[in-house]
Amino acid sequence: MSSRADAVVLFGATGDLVRKKLMPALYELAKVGRLGVPVIGVARSAWEDERLRSHARESVEATGRGPVDEAAFGELAQSLSMLVGDYGDAALYDELAQRLQGAQRPVFYLAIPPSVFAKVVQGLASAGLAARGRVIVEKPFGRDQESARELNGWLAGAFDQQSIFRIDHYLGKESVEGLLVFRFANTFLEPFWNRNHVAGVQITLGEAFGTEGRAGFYDGVGAVRDVLQNHLLQVVALLAMEPPIADDADAYRDEEVKVLRQISPLEPRNTVRGQYVGYLDEDGVGEDSTTETFVSTCLTIESWRWAGVPFYLRTGKHMPGSATEAVVELRRPPRLLFAGQDADVPSTNLVRFRLGHSDGVTMSVQAKAPGARTVTQPVDLRVDFESALGHRREAYERLLDDAMDGRRHRFAREDTIEEEWRIVAPILDLPDRPVPYYKGTWGPPSTHPPAGGWHEVALRS
Ligand code: BG6
Repeated sequence: MSSRADAVVLFGATGDLVRKKLMPALYELAKVGRLGVPVIGVARSAWEDERLRSHARESVEATGRGPVDEAAFGELAQSLSMLVGDYGDAALYDELAQRLQGAQRPVFYLAIPPSVFAKVVQGLASAGLAARGRVIVEKPFGRDQESARELNGWLAGAFDQQSIFRIDHYLGKESVEGLLVFRFANTFLEPFWNRNHVAGVQITLGEAFGTEGRAGFYDGVGAVRDVLQNHLLQVVALLAMEPPIADDADAYRDEEVKVLRQISPLEPRNTVRGQYVGYLDEDGVGEDSTTETFVSTCLTIESWRWAGVPFYLRTGKHMPGSATEAVVELRRPPRLLFAGQDADVPSTNLVRFRLGHSDGVTMSVQAKAPGARTVTQPVDLRVDFESALGHRREAYERLLDDAMDGRRHRFAREDTIEEEWRIVAPILDLPDRPVPYYKGTWGPPSTHPPAGGWHEVALRS
């Protein structure tokens, strides 16, 4: 099943994800001549085609990526049409089947709340659309391991396994995928990429902003389900996994699952959940909500390579700035020859993967400080991938393009997602109130910091 899709159907067309990510992605595909298919937006709100087109225009302009390419936008606008109805109503799917009569390989993008997944999947199956289509499912994939299994059951009952595309958009980021290339296309890291040389790993996904008008969704989810269970654990897996045995989708996921299976469930005693002050006043947030907007925790991987190395994770909304970084800290040299009597102990070597804005790699090393004394000074060896490699495509654009082509490399597999839920299970829905923190801080003061504290991350404010 590798032929290119000949129609795209967006369930949840009036929603946030379509506005923020999918419309800009479709427009970018049109720009590079990779759209060329009808795009049908499905939603419950009674939108006309024109409304969807102006919505698309606004969402493309809102990306702020310079003037709109009118030819590309014209192609996108031409391809768009709306289909309005209730997700539980068979008539909606009959109408969709009518519209898709000429399509051999439609792609169905489920940008809808998990509560309506089952209805849509059943509707597609009953109308005979699932058998020839591909389905893209957005995260969060279920609410826990059990509901993820249930969801997988519905999908597997309707779609062929090869036609199910589970999105974790971090897998579609060039910078995140680059972790594997940096590790396995270069030989210099491998000798020290293990417990003998690595003292610890710190992963931060900090965001300067809050729930951005989607508090209603966020309040039912929280930081653990929203990003830790998926994006952060994917980054852990890519940093820690063994090289895949082949360059195919299953070989990648096999190694990821292997490393995830060696992670013990997270412990509430090592975990701090926070909630920013003011969250409870937002529209859509329950009065007594105990949803966390910040979480920090620590895990270990009981493998030959990583046993005993702490992996610290933290993520939060309304942090002092935005940054997504993984910092790998090496052990100190056995003797501190170059500290000087009254100088500070030299800092350790760091390998820093910048995965968000200004992505790239920085290695912090010690150099001789100028002067008569033989003491060290830390310096950074730094590469910015944008300037070194040029423009790279956005995650959603790559993922849509992949799914349209039937390429599964950059999608999560059922067992990966189930392992991720197993790992976070003990810290889901903890009964205690999250600790309040002020906006613009790194979460509650009570956060258990790694020994020596968190390394500074480069922020975009
Ligand atoms: C999404 C979460 O999956 O990832 C958002 O739902 C979060 O809450 C976003 O802001 C972070 O993604 P990125 O690509 O901006 O790091």
